[in-house]
Amino acid sequence: MNKQFTVSIIGCGSRGGDAFGQLMYREKDFFRIVSLCDINRERLMHYGALFQVEENLLFDSEEAFFMKKRSDVLVIATQDRDHVRMCKRALELGYEILLEKPVSPMKEELFDLLATHNKYPHNVVVCHVLRYAPAFRKVKELLEQGVIGRLVMIDALEQVSYWHQAHSFVRGNWRCEKETSPMIMQKCCHDLDLLQYYADSTAETVYSAGSLTFFTLANMPRNAATRCKDCPLIESCPYSAERVYVARWKDAGCPLDAWPYNVVAMAPLTEEKLRVAYENGSYGRCVFACDNDVVDHQSVSVVFRNGVQANLTMTAFTYESGRKYTFHGTAGEIRLDEDRDLLCVMPFGHPREDIRISDLVEEMSSFGHGGGDYGLIQAFYKILTGVGPSDTALERSVESHLMALAAEQSRKSGKVVFLHDAKEGEEE
Ligand SMILES: NC(=O)c1ccc[n+]([C@@H]2O[C@H](COP(=O)([O-])OP(=O)(O)OC[C@H]3O[C@@H](n4cnc5c(N)ncnc54)[C@H](O)[C@@H]3O)[C@@H](O)[C@H]2O)c1
Repeated sequence: MNKQFTVSIIGCGSRGGDAFGQLMYREKDFFRIVSLCDINRERLMHYGALFQVEENLLFDSEEAFFMKKRSDVLVIATQDRDHVRMCKRALELGYEILLEKPVSPMKEELFDLLATHNKYPHNVVVCHVLRYAPAFRKVKELLEQGVIGRLVMIDALEQVSYWHQAHSFVRGNWRCEKETSPMIMQKCCHDLDLLQYYADSTAETVYSAGSLTFFTLANMPRNAATRCKDCPLIESCPYSAERVYVARWKDAGCPLDAWPYNVVAMAPLTEEKLRVAYENGSYGRCVFACDNDVVDHQSVSVVFRNGVQANLTMTAFTYESGRKYTFHGTAGEIRLDEDRDLLCVMPFGHPREDIRISDLVEEMSSFGHGGGDYGLIQAFYKILTGVGPSDTALERSVESHLMALAAEQSRKSGKVVFLHDAKEGEEE
């Protein structure tokens, strides 16, 4: 008989409710959701009913929720700036913790949390979900088997895609650095984490360049309106809310509950609900007339202590989304291309092997982040029961956050940052 862990979730949005909540609710042999906390009462009641949580264990304030320990496990899926405060309190209360990334965009907070963790050493597993996605794990296996010899370089492309940039980083939750995190941390702390995982080393130097170049008032077409509903370009503009939230939703087969539409309007979704939501809310703003300040493209060059080099490019200006990674070794090359659903293994002097990424994922219904969301939940259970290693424990995750902070420091100063110095807070 499996041990079943009781679970609380604070922050029942896309990640807490829709991703991890749904997955843990489904895994009834392993988890039982017993308490929820969200300041948005509509979401709280929606997920409370869905996960069959008793009403007296639904909390709309973190103060009330944190009065005492409610379960074995706590999933923290609130916004970036809430994570450390909540995680520290949860450690004091004795929870085992699944913590959404980024841990924090502030170096002092990262070290503060590490200090609390030393005092209360419960599990804190950070949601670097891609480490648990089968295709990304397969690459690690191939590298460890030496299939391409010694790894020399990694070339990583994070295709944000034009509409996702508009949704999350121009109109949405992560548009302002001071409210959340720099975009390289928000969107790419997974990539930076993966680079150190594959390089099997820690970063020595980081150099970065990038800016916000397009989604600004200076690029607003002369005849455009500040809201899509009033705009003469509503049919032709690729960023029009009608196109992004209604036309794309219809193209996707009018799902009743799917990201990103369920961010704009509450499920069950209808055409009318989506239109009313964008006409009246922040997602109907012109992308050239928002209060966004995060970059729309950035590149990062990293040299690791063992000599492996990596280049990461994150850009809004892509038709498709997903990651394209190329691994260059002394005896071959591996290419991972999410939007082509392809992993190519190409040892020099031998035939190439093409693997479909989707064939590596057991169940398509568990495909969030290429199977990584589900993989993380499975790994988390193993960690809790003491039979699995914690690949994304707090200390290791903090390393990738320091890389992101160093990248941001370099982008702003135009100088190379030496990670040792960056850790100690010294500017180069
Ligand atoms: N691991 C990943 O790949 C991944 C992907 C996307 C987002 N994220 C991260 O997950 C976190 C959540 O993102 P999301 O897209 O689910 O956001 P969201 O806005 O959909 O959900 C956040 C929820 O937290 C609630 N909340 C805010 N303040 C609260 C408080 N004080 N107490 C209780 N509830 C509170 C909000 O009402 C909302 O329901 C963010 O930190 C984000 O960066 C991680």
